[in-house]
Amino acid sequence: MSLPSPTELSELIFFVNGRKIIEKNADPEISLLFYLRKKHILLSVCLTGTKYGCGVGGCGACTVMLSRYEPVSKKIQHYSANACLIPICSLYGAAITTVEGIGSTKSRIHPVQERIAKSHGSQCGFCTPGMVMSIYTLLRNHPEPSTEQIIAALAGNLCRCTGYRPIIESCKTFCKESVCCQVSSNKGNNCLDEEKVTSFPEEENEVKLSTTDDLWLLDATQDLIFPPELIRMAEDLQKSTLVFRGERITWISPISLMELLELKDKYPKAPLAVGNTGVGLDMKLKGTFHPVIISPTRVLELSIMSYKKDGLTVGATCSLAVVKDILTNAVLELPREKTKIFCALLQQLKSLGGPQIRNIASFGGNITIKHPASDLNPILAASNCILNLASKEGTRQIPLNDSFFSGLGNDALKPEEILVSVHIPHSRKWEFISAFRQAQRHENALCIVNAGMKVLFEEGTDIIRNVSIFYGGVGSTTTCAKKSCEDLIGRQWTEQMLHTACKIVLEEVLLPGSAPGGMVEYKRTLMISFFFKFYLKVLQELKLVDNHRYYDIPKKDMSALEIFQIKTPQSLQLFQVVVPENLPQYPVGDSIMHESAVKHATGEAVYCDDICPMDEELFLAVVTSTRAHAKIISIDVLQALKLPGVLDAITAQDIPGKNKFLSATGTEMIFAEDKVICVGQIVCAVVADSEVHAKQAAAKVNIEYEALEPVILTIEEAVKHSSFFEPERKFEQGNTEEAFETADHILEGELHIGGQEHFYMETHSVLVVPKGENKEMDVYVSTQDLTFAQQLVASVLNAPFSVIKCHVKRIGGGFGGKTVKPAQFAAITALAADRTGRAVRCILDRSDDMLITGGRHPYLGKYKVGFMNDGRIMAVDIRYYSNGGCTEDKSILVLQVSMLGLFNAYKIPNLRCCGRVCKTNLPSNTSFRGFGFPQAALITESWITDVAAKSGLSPEKVREVNLYKEAYQKHLKMDIDPDNLIRCWNECMEKSSYYKRKMTIEEFNKQNYWKKKGIAIIPLKVPVGFSDQYLNQGAALVHIYLDGSVLVTHGGIEMGQGISTKIIQIASHELKIPLSYIHVYETSTTMVPNANVSSASIGTDVYGMAVKDACQTLLKRLEPVMSKSPKDSWENWIKAAFKQSVSLSATGYFRGYDVHMDWNTWEGHPCAYFVYAAACSEVEIDCLTGDHQNIRTDIIVDIGCSINPAMDIGQIEGAFIQGLGLFTMEELKYSPEGVLYTRGPDHYKIPAVCDIPKEFNVSLLSPSQTSNTLYSSKGVGEAGLFLGCSVFFAIKDAIAAARKERGLTGTFLLNSPSTPEHIRMACIDQFTKMIPRDDPGSYVPWAISPSQ
Ligand SMILES: Cc1cc2nc3c(=O)[nH]c(=O)nc-3n(C[C@H](O)[C@H](O)[C@H](O)COP(=O)(O)OP(=O)(O)OC[C@H]3O[C@@H](n4cnc5c(N)ncnc54)[C@H](O)[C@@H]3O)c2cc1C
Ligand code: FES
Ligand code: FES
Repeated sequence: MSLPSPTELSELIFFVNGRKIIEKNADPEISLLFYLRKKHILLSVCLTGTKYGCGVGGCGACTVMLSRYEPVSKKIQHYSANACLIPICSLYGAAITTVEGIGSTKSRIHPVQERIAKSHGSQCGFCTPGMVMSIYTLLRNHPEPSTEQIIAALAGNLCRCTGYRPIIESCKTFCKESVCCQVSSNKGNNCLDEEKVTSFPEEENEVKLSTTDDLWLLDATQDLIFPPELIRMAEDLQKSTLVFRGERITWISPISLMELLELKDKYPKAPLAVGNTGVGLDMKLKGTFHPVIISPTRVLELSIMSYKKDGLTVGATCSLAVVKDILTNAVLELPREKTKIFCALLQQLKSLGGPQIRNIASFGGNITIKHPASDLNPILAASNCILNLASKEGTRQIPLNDSFFSGLGNDALKPEEILVSVHIPHSRKWEFISAFRQAQRHENALCIVNAGMKVLFEEGTDIIRNVSIFYGGVGSTTTCAKKSCEDLIGRQWTEQMLHTACKIVLEEVLLPGSAPGGMVEYKRTLMISFFFKFYLKVLQELKLVDNHRYYDIPKKDMSALEIFQIKTPQSLQLFQVVVPENLPQYPVGDSIMHESAVKHATGEAVYCDDICPMDEELFLAVVTSTRAHAKIISIDVLQALKLPGVLDAITAQDIPGKNKFLSATGTEMIFAEDKVICVGQIVCAVVADSEVHAKQAAAKVNIEYEALEPVILTIEEAVKHSSFFEPERKFEQGNTEEAFETADHILEGELHIGGQEHFYMETHSVLVVPKGENKEMDVYVSTQDLTFAQQLVASVLNAPFSVIKCHVKRIGGGFGGKTVKPAQFAAITALAADRTGRAVRCILDRSDDMLITGGRHPYLGKYKVGFMNDGRIMAVDIRYYSNGGCTEDKSILVLQVSMLGLFNAYKIPNLRCCGRVCKTNLPSNTSFRGFGFPQAALITESWITDVAAKSGLSPEKVREVNLYKEAYQKHLKMDIDPDNLIRCWNECMEKSSYYKRKMTIEEFNKQNYWKKKGIAIIPLKVPVGFSDQYLNQGAALVHIYLDGSVLVTHGGIEMGQGISTKIIQIASHELKIPLSYIHVYETSTTMVPNANVSSASIGTDVYGMAVKDACQTLLKRLEPVMSKSPKDSWENWIKAAFKQSVSLSATGYFRGYDVHMDWNTWEGHPCAYFVYAAACSEVEIDCLTGDHQNIRTDIIVDIGCSINPAMDIGQIEGAFIQGLGLFTMEELKYSPEGVLYTRGPDHYKIPAVCDIPKEFNVSLLSPSQTSNTLYSSKGVGEAGLFLGCSVFFAIKDAIAAARKERGLTGTFLLNSPSTPEHIRMACIDQFTKMIPRDDPGSYVPWAISPSQ
């Protein structure tokens, strides 16, 4: 069979939002996501509502609904899918619905869109279309879903802003079952408080953040109908083979098995793309190239499922979701005895990937990839499943065993063979099967280790006739403990057997110290911990078979068997009642929804990459260093320039202006010049006519290096080489040495805190449009600091600032990560635009974004603490080391904030502190929500916890004893009034029923040996604003037009925090006109010059003040007109004013808070004010796996008089969940050569829906006036993040309980984040003691930790 000629190529027919698409030149390399977003010619407009977040199926931003007609069942199937993984060629006969297809502001919005918007379910809005589509698809299949179905439907969607609570609340409104009233009442509790452990003060009235009144109901007539033409096409018996050919790849989709086998014979190396979740990712991430791809999805024989007498045969192309449904039905219909394998598979399928993955990924694909972390293979192999294979030569059956995995011998799949179906046998009476898995996150995360285990006993005995143990995650593919299994045959199922089994398994399944994936000791522990669980589970089941013959499981072991269930979170938000007529400042103070919320939900909100392609637009891709420290010998761009569509390659030499620039405190470079100082440093950029061509060309740039010494990656190495950024920061108050001498006790310790990736959902994006004269440029850039972008573009082009116009409408999250780097991307892109004279776009893919940009600084804190018997802290001596990466960026400023924040909420009479920023060969770390405070305060809370452990007092007592109590003047000359801090603490204690729950937890811990609960309450006092007054200044421009409408422009960036909404509220209040009269357009350097970076939680403070100022100026001017005819309308006043030549445009200005700080003497007033808060969290840990679940969190925050409680609570919740991620799960991993491994959601896990506390309550402290701030409000963007550490300390409390029971008392080290690995290894027991340990110097570890 030869490849067809172009004339034989097929037409690709599918529908998008009801519109028929006929694609004559379908390219197999084009994904549906790219097609929707960029192919405006065919779809008339670009459908940019579907977002790019990661490109690897891990974030759900690109979720669409895929519908197909199944001719056999004659049913239309709708399922959610990730557009980034779907090649358009696979869409023949499919109907795609995108967020634009379900509703829009131009027609009618869909109830899902309406509810998510009204419930404040969007902040930056970048994840929102994906969320909407996941829920929309669920509702198409289940119009009245259960809350469990909602949680399951959202498992594949990430949000970095909201903390998910409001999204879930909005979806719950579709549930039939009654859900929590979510309302507090002045009488007492709501339906959450089953145990009545929460109490609410009398004065709080019934309040809601959003109303569920007048919501639109689901209306099926609003849904697009499935195109009848597609039904006809599916039923057509005259189907023919489809062939599509792109620039490099041919896609063949046969219709018969025979044809498929012939193709596989002809192209044995061609992969079968079913869901494309494996093939597509390999091509994208590993650069694998396949000239021919075969799609077997139209071959009926591969999708057939049949019940047999001895089991179930499942077609290889059945999706994992279909397999899940089939198994669920089988379990319901068949006797339990027969379905033990099915149940084990179902358990794994529940958490395998997200729903979007399970909907498209195939059963056969999962098996044949032989991925080491496959969740199905260990259980299928342990259960003796049979694979039915076919080739042109005929059919055969092979067992799914270790030969299949090794690819050797007769039981291996040959290149010309295909998997037709899989036979899963029924289980038998004396056979017991279990599956286990542990991952970094409960859902949508590949396992760290998993296992499939089966034992068959001699009938009526506990003598092992046969046993199988398969592990995933511990080798290059699924691994069988074959010899151990043989050794166990004939033994009795006793503790002695358990001990032997653990020993021999550890001897057989060897994991070298340098094994890929790292976590070696943890993985070894998991292998035998899982076997212990299996041992107990089998004992339990034997007991069910014959209650008299078999042993009881020891009571203390029962808790090992309980599995954490993902439950629907419940929540409560309390804040002061806002009744408009009682509120003189209305609409300031009201929970107005985000001004863009509806557009977020409909996909109409425009982000940088949503701007339609310009004429002749080009794309820029960057080339980055592959070495951590090396001299650049040569940069060869010749091969790149030869590729089709490539126009230019740019290096440092091509910059007409300056390559060096000053950022905050240090010197940085646009392009590396003579040497590179980290992996990921930008060396060169390539410009081409398309994204694909630019990326292909970038891969062809050849850079020669010569290694330079030393390569410094960790804090330890930096200290060894005295590699620091200057200056060292230190200060001392009181007399520390003397205080140490009089203290009752002294303790010393240290804490390592890992870094954090911002993981804003919108990656770095720039579009530069040259205007053709005077070097004028329009720069659209996703940044928090527009002025810096303007300055850097000008500096690179050698142009005045005034010709560079920078614009931001909104950004898809920033969190501090879009302050410095966007300017560099803008400058490079502008240079390309200047050289080519054409518009140039640069959108980083997730992997480059994570590689190039740094994040939160990893920290090491070393401390010595002197304290009294009653817990009073007398003296602290502390050293901080932060890992700044390769350039200074804002690292010194971050360190200063750390040192300012180390007090947290405590009065420390004698303190010596010293801080250094380590200069290493990692990407430069930068600002990140909290700006150094979370790391320093975590170290403080850690030594407080140590003091408690050492003194035998409870942590909350030590905290209470040391809290600021009375008005106290710090050495920094700032007055601190801790009244609200104490109120927060006391209210948190009360609302969380802390002591009562602590007792309950103690009781639980006594009863459960392998599960422990922990609780912690943490206070917070965080400084707000910059310590330089000029950085707190802000300006605004307000125009009133002749129809009365008002345009407000300010210097703040809308990144989800809702600044534009609050600004509209402020303008509405000041001008006394309805909100609808006011519009906020974009932030632009032309409207408000020299705007400061939007960060430090003070955007609304300063720009709100400026807008207020401008509005008051305007009102003053209008006053004479208004007083002349006081009953007249606003519109008439404006017209009259115009006729009287009153200027209807005004600037407003706020010069900043009165702050100043001398960092050498540590004298001054470094912040505008403090935000106070307290948080209490409860968790439960699994001591055998290190897993944990967040049970409940109560937060109380003092934010003064909130301008918009919904928005402020949203900020608190979102920041809390981001902090929970920082302190308990997010882990960056680098190779010993300094290469970042964790470059996407597949490896770097941020919190998902499954991670939010099962009960999540946030209250705002009833306000007290704070005269120097805007309407007595406070900025709250960052404060909540640190509160996430209450979960960390609750985990530590639970671990301490486990250790105590095992005879280990006193302090112990728990570094941050408290991942499953750290939790498990801290819960020392017989299993951790059994595992072999490697001598640290005897191997090169797979990963290094920058905080070490
Ligand atoms: C975001 C994400 C999360 C994931 N999470 C998990 C997880 O938690 N647990 C887990 O186990 N897996 C997980 N996976 C892996 C996923 O389950 C597999 O990639 C998927 O099952 C493969 O099926 P597919 O149809 O997409 O394969 P494709 O990509 O279409 O094909 C993969 C390979 O299988 C071969 N192949 C497919 N069908 C046949 C056949 N019938 N005969 C012969 N060869 C065949 C192809 O030639 C190709 O080499 C995840 C994947 C992604 C992208
Ligand atoms: S962009 Fe498709 S899942 Fe992230
Ligand atoms: S609103 Fe979800 S990522 Fe910003």
